[in-house]
Formats: sequence, C-alpha cells, structure tokens
Amino acid sequence: MAMPKIARAEGAVAIGAGVHWIGAFDPDLRSFDIILRTANGTSYNAYAVRGSAGVAVIDTVKANFAQSFFSRLESVAGYDEITAIVQNHLEPDHSGALPELLRRAPAATLYVSHQARTMLRGLIDTSAFEQRIVSVGTGDTVTLGDRELLFLNTPYLHWPDTQCTWLATAGMLFSGDFFGCHYCDGRLFNDAVGDFRSSFEYYYANIMRPFRTHVRQALDLIEPLPLQTIAPGHGPILRQDPRDYVRRYRALSAPALHAADSRTLLVFYLSAYGATRRMAEAVAAGAESVGAEAGEVRVSLHDLEGGDIPSFVDLIEEADGLVFGSPTINGDAVKPVWDLLSSLATVDIRGKIGAAFGSYGWSGEAVAMIEDRLRGLKLRVPVPGVKARLVPTDEDFAACRELGRQAALHLLGRALPRVLDMASLA
Ligand code: FEO
Repeated sequence: MAMPKIARAEGAVAIGAGVHWIGAFDPDLRSFDIILRTANGTSYNAYAVRGSAGVAVIDTVKANFAQSFFSRLESVAGYDEITAIVQNHLEPDHSGALPELLRRAPAATLYVSHQARTMLRGLIDTSAFEQRIVSVGTGDTVTLGDRELLFLNTPYLHWPDTQCTWLATAGMLFSGDFFGCHYCDGRLFNDAVGDFRSSFEYYYANIMRPFRTHVRQALDLIEPLPLQTIAPGHGPILRQDPRDYVRRYRALSAPALHAADSRTLLVFYLSAYGATRRMAEAVAAGAESVGAEAGEVRVSLHDLEGGDIPSFVDLIEEADGLVFGSPTINGDAVKPVWDLLSSLATVDIRGKIGAAFGSYGWSGEAVAMIEDRLRGLKLRVPVPGVKARLVPTDEDFAACRELGRQAALHLLGRALPRVLDMASLA
C-alpha cells in the first residue's frame, strides 16, 4: 500500500509577523543519538526574526542539512542584514551550520548562555570569531530595532547550555529541545500535522525526564508569559493552544505524591531455586522492622522474572532506596538485573541508597558487580552486600535482615557511622 504523501514546505514558512521558519526536514531518520527511535523522522527547526534594525537567526541545523537552511534563510534575509545569531542549544543537530553562518554573516553577534560560552570552544573552532560571542542570562535582551529578544536561562534541558528566547511582540517562545519532538511533517504546525502525541511524550520521557527538576524550574519562568506560539527545535510548531503543552510538561514533571516524612525502599530479586528469593524476603523484613518502629519506611518486593521494565523504572524514579538481589551464574549477575540497571538513564537516581545481595555456588561475583554498577549510577552504597553460598544459613538470613534494617536507617538518616574493620582491608 502506498504511503500517504505529506506536503513538504519547500521554502521559508511565515510563522508570525516578520518571523520565518528556515529549518530542515529529515524524514528518513530512524534513530537519534543512537538510543532514540525516530519512526517519523525529525525536523531541525531554525528561525529568522526581522526587526526594523536587523535580523536575528535563532538556531541552525545539522551540518548535512545546511544547504536547505541557507537557501531558506537567503529567501527571507540578506547575510549583511543579520545582526544577531542566537544559539539556544549547542548540540550539533542545532549548531551544525553555525560556523558557516558566522562566516557568511560577518556583522552578526552570537548570543549563547553563560554555560554555553565555554562548551562552544569544545565543539567548534571559535578562534576566528571569539570577539563576536556574547553570553547572556535570564533578563538579558538584544534589540532588533522595533522589537527585542529576551533570554531565559533554562539549563539542563537537556544539556547544561540550554536557554529559551522570548519574542514579546509576537508572544513567541523559541524553546530549543524543550517542548520538541522527533516528528517530521511538512505541514509544520500542530493544528495541521497528524497526531504526534506519542512522539511528544516519548521525547519528554527520553530526553527531559532525567532533568525534571530543571523542567519545573524552566516552567516557572515560562508559565507567566503571554504565550501565543511555542517554536521548538524539533517537530511541530505549537501555535494552537500552546498552554496545553506547558500543562502537559507540568504534569509529566510533577513529583510523586507521597508523605514527606515517609521513605520508600524497593527490593528487586531474581531467584533460580528460591535461595535469593528467601534472602530478599529477609531484606524486606529487616527494612520493615525499622518502619514498624517509626512508621516511615514503605518496603515493596519485586520479582524481576517476567516483570515489566518501564513500570519498574517508574517505581524506581519515585523510590528512595533500591536493593537488588541476584544469584551468580557463570560469574555474573543475571541478565534481567542488568536489563533493569541499564534502563535507568532516563530517570534521576543520583543520591538514592543502593545495596545488593544474592546466593552463589562457588564464585559469587554478582553482588560486588551490582554494587559497582550502583556506584557508577551515582547511588550511595553505604551498607555492605550479603552473599550466601548455596542454601542460605540462619546467619545469612540474619545478615540479610540487618542489610535491610541498615538500608532503612540510612533512608531515615538514622544510621550510625560505619566502623571500618581495618583487618578486613588488609
Ligand atoms: Fe536537539 Fe539536544 O539536540
């Protein structure tokens, strides 16, 4: 069956008075940054804003799409008219054509965030135009004569350098990756393209979700603006009900509702013959014994066998502590544990409490390997792991209960400082 043909904008597209889209379409892209699936391709959105005393170019495109970008730019402005280039984000999909644009527009000053100022040197050779770079923060402006651009510092969306640019006279926010999505459709506007909700939410989940504290801080800056249009760096331009997307981001980035004085501890395990499962139950019981005293730690047990990783990731994002139990098989932790641990890049888990335990036959590497991975993910691992050889003994179960108890105490900030046994370090 032939695919429906979607009309593609060939030239620059007016998106407001004196404002044009001058980006590029990449309909055939199927993965972005290696890890992101892009079934609908993407667009690299760039914009030209004309004022009475100059033209600003906001963002550029990926290097191999530069020809489309320059051709669209030339249809709406001469290079000698360009007084400002704003780079809201330095990732190469937006800055690929920047060096050439700076060469072609010698009168233009480049405006980037303070964080971007040093990053820029690591990405491109700035020696030829170092004097033309100005770093800006929230409240700084650049005039184009009868209109001005206002900068909003919105870092970590999703790099440290990201900023948004506000054009008050048009009620237009140029938001970079924020509010973007990989959805290529030449009809360009949200009220004209197909249904892109799944792409919008997939993009949020994979790009913005790890930075949701920063998302909320950026929304604090954006919500008071009289928004008429959000012009992001990828995907449809949001001119119809832009506040719907702001509300969606607010909802997606909201912290979970749980009592401020309670902590949650998740115990994940996988067990071949029941030994690691029984150890998991002992860990949970130990943690609950603290909760029973104080009523402050909520413990849940999760068997990884047949579990659903996205659901576990959601739980982990909201949890305060994570304990993983794995047998050692062929000198390694078992694959479902690694599958879950390698799926945590989309959530912020730094600073959570982590621990590990497991049974083994003769080598027992899994526990230390999991602990190393937890430390690599920036979790705190304050309680030594517990290993049990073959069938766990009463002493092993007692050690598991103590592991759970200590983990819970750390969650409550009541753990005693650990006393190192120097002999064990020899
Ligand atoms: Fe679209 Fe972070 O680049």
